[in-house]
Amino acid sequence: MSEANADYLTTKKNEYHEKYKNVLISLCVVTLSASMDAKELIRITTENLSLIYQVNDRNRLEQIYFGKNIGNMSEFEKVSLPAYPAYSTYGTNHVFEAALRVTHADGNTSTELMYTGHQIVQEDPGRVHTIISLKDEYYDLYTTLHFRAYPEEDILEQWVEIQNREKKNIVLSDFASSDLSFTAGKYFVTQFYGDWSEEMNMKEQELSPGMKVIDSKLGVRTHQYTHPCFLLGLEQPVQELSGEVIGGTLAWPGSFRFTFEVNNDGKLRVLSGINPYGSAYTLGKNETFTTPGFLFTYSKNGVQPVSQKFHRWARKYGIKNGDKDRDILLNNWEATYFDFDEEKLVRIIDDASQMGFELFLLDDGWFGNKHPRNGDTQGLGDWQTNREKLPNGIPFLINECKKRGLKFGIWVEPEMVNPKSELYEKHPDWVIAQPHRERTVQRNQLILDLSNPEVQKFVYDVVDRLLVENPGIDYVKWDCNRFVGNPGSSWLPADKQSHLWIDYSNALLKIMEKVSRKYPDVTFMACSGGGGRIDYGSMRHFDEYWISDNNDPLQRIFTQWGTQYFFPAIGLASHVSVSPNHISGRSTPLKYRFDVALAGKLGMDLQPSQMTEEEKVFSKNAIALYKEIRSTVLHGDLYRLLSPYESNRTAYMYVAQDKSEAIVFNFLVRKEIKSNTQTIYLQGLDPEQQYSVEEVNRVSSWSRSAAYKDKLFSGEYLMTVGMTFPMYNEYESVVLRIKTQE
Ligand code: GLA
Repeated sequence: MSEANADYLTTKKNEYHEKYKNVLISLCVVTLSASMDAKELIRITTENLSLIYQVNDRNRLEQIYFGKNIGNMSEFEKVSLPAYPAYSTYGTNHVFEAALRVTHADGNTSTELMYTGHQIVQEDPGRVHTIISLKDEYYDLYTTLHFRAYPEEDILEQWVEIQNREKKNIVLSDFASSDLSFTAGKYFVTQFYGDWSEEMNMKEQELSPGMKVIDSKLGVRTHQYTHPCFLLGLEQPVQELSGEVIGGTLAWPGSFRFTFEVNNDGKLRVLSGINPYGSAYTLGKNETFTTPGFLFTYSKNGVQPVSQKFHRWARKYGIKNGDKDRDILLNNWEATYFDFDEEKLVRIIDDASQMGFELFLLDDGWFGNKHPRNGDTQGLGDWQTNREKLPNGIPFLINECKKRGLKFGIWVEPEMVNPKSELYEKHPDWVIAQPHRERTVQRNQLILDLSNPEVQKFVYDVVDRLLVENPGIDYVKWDCNRFVGNPGSSWLPADKQSHLWIDYSNALLKIMEKVSRKYPDVTFMACSGGGGRIDYGSMRHFDEYWISDNNDPLQRIFTQWGTQYFFPAIGLASHVSVSPNHISGRSTPLKYRFDVALAGKLGMDLQPSQMTEEEKVFSKNAIALYKEIRSTVLHGDLYRLLSPYESNRTAYMYVAQDKSEAIVFNFLVRKEIKSNTQTIYLQGLDPEQQYSVEEVNRVSSWSRSAAYKDKLFSGEYLMTVGMTFPMYNEYESVVLRIKTQE
């Protein structure tokens, strides 16, 4: 090993020892290895997945296996398996899309990475960190592949560090987080796509030779059109309970790119990472570029385990306070929009407390004085309480909530500014814009340039000051209502303008982290004009996410269905709103709206004073029911029973971890001439246990599933023979509560 390599390894080793000192001291489980033997094998493994790399006799790192976990590693030494670059580089013999493309200090555009060592660190009982060090064979370019295995949750996370130790600047043009190769006869990719108010639709396609790209170039509010996750079926389309499936998602709130390239031999390479689009990154001497994490898992038994693994992992590691319950809230947005005052709000708060809500969320419109925020054309950026609407300020509202046993939440959109605002009058240079180009607005607003440290401080202070000055705020809805146009920064130098996309997201993540660290008990909701920011980079700092502005229950059935392939119910805020729906114009029964919302984290956007007495009673009962079933819905395992894409009826269920309770949601998505009698085969129950079946959240004592009432059924019966009951009416839903006997 060269001196430089040995040096680097020691520095890295020390860094990691320093970082994980406490863990390491307490566990004393550290394995280190820096051998240069030919054909050395490195296995990264979780309960069901093994990813195996070899160091070949030319000292290159190669992937030789991705698939079901195999206990006996020694057998991998017996024969040579097809080998693929572990982290492909541009400019040598590799003629496909590359994970890494660098222009070295002397202008050379090629890179050839050699293995220099690896180490395995047991970070804590639940996480194993494998660090593989690579170095260009000629240049002082160091690349470190990081893999964090969550063995029990069966999730792997990969990210990469690229360090420039050359004499001058280098430029990175491609910098994937992960480079995985697959060999199968056929490949099927499912993507998640949409637009405002119709997010998270799903489409699957078979890959043909060449390249399929799933990406976003929006920079901010990045996931408005495409979501940073995919499913990959090997040999066959993705099935719920059979076949090999890989699920992957990038933990990054900025532009992302997944490329799926089927080469001349029919092999598939999947590159996942930040979108390099317009993002060439100059790395100064001794600077390090760190990619975001790519999270993935593998199942031999269809996609159901993929979702369950992500959900379990997320509740433990991926979502802030994922192990805690969530409050049922009433939001005034659709109830009042910008048109409210103290009196109106107090009336809503009063109604909310009587109906059993736990939190009142004050949405947009509470701020701005010179340019009052009475619509979306002005005031954004001026975070002072509007004295006309709220003469007694936020503390008064907090107190009104407190008096009635409610918590209080508030809306902010700290990254944005209306040109008609005091903030913009003072700092017109703080926005993302190109010189000599028109400053184009979306929703009448511009984006603050987070590459600028002064702006970063401002954005952090907006949230911090609000929470410091108004003790008692328990919930913050952090919104973000436009994407990037004219990507220019007056802060970044001319030769680093292309850093904007990446620097923005890194700065944002740092601000989110600082805020969530300071306020661990305040609930944060990630909203982005609906579902424009749902990713596991942000979600570490957020408790909830808003998947769509569209609360039409029929649309929501699809949006919730798609979202839950990767993101669990614990964060999935789902609100009942008015009928006809403000966005779709569709009229639906209150029960249908409630049942869809009960299947996530319940909230309401409807003003109780707009309801009849009968509706109020129904809502009150539904809220009381949710308090009983919330733990199973939010912390249970999800089982999809019938897909809304494949049948006229959809069904899914949550099963409590101890299998003592399950909540089954059934929705008719298309009415048939005759009634729909599709049998639903329950899943995840204990076959040995006896369960009662009760239809809950009914509008009357009449029940579709009355035949099952007051009887006991074994888990085996419910899962094997299933349940058959008709569903007939337009917008009909049935919620079943299945319980073991105490
Ligand atoms: C976005 C959000 C909505 C609401 C409005 C307020 O559109 O998605 O829920 O908060 O902003 O302006």
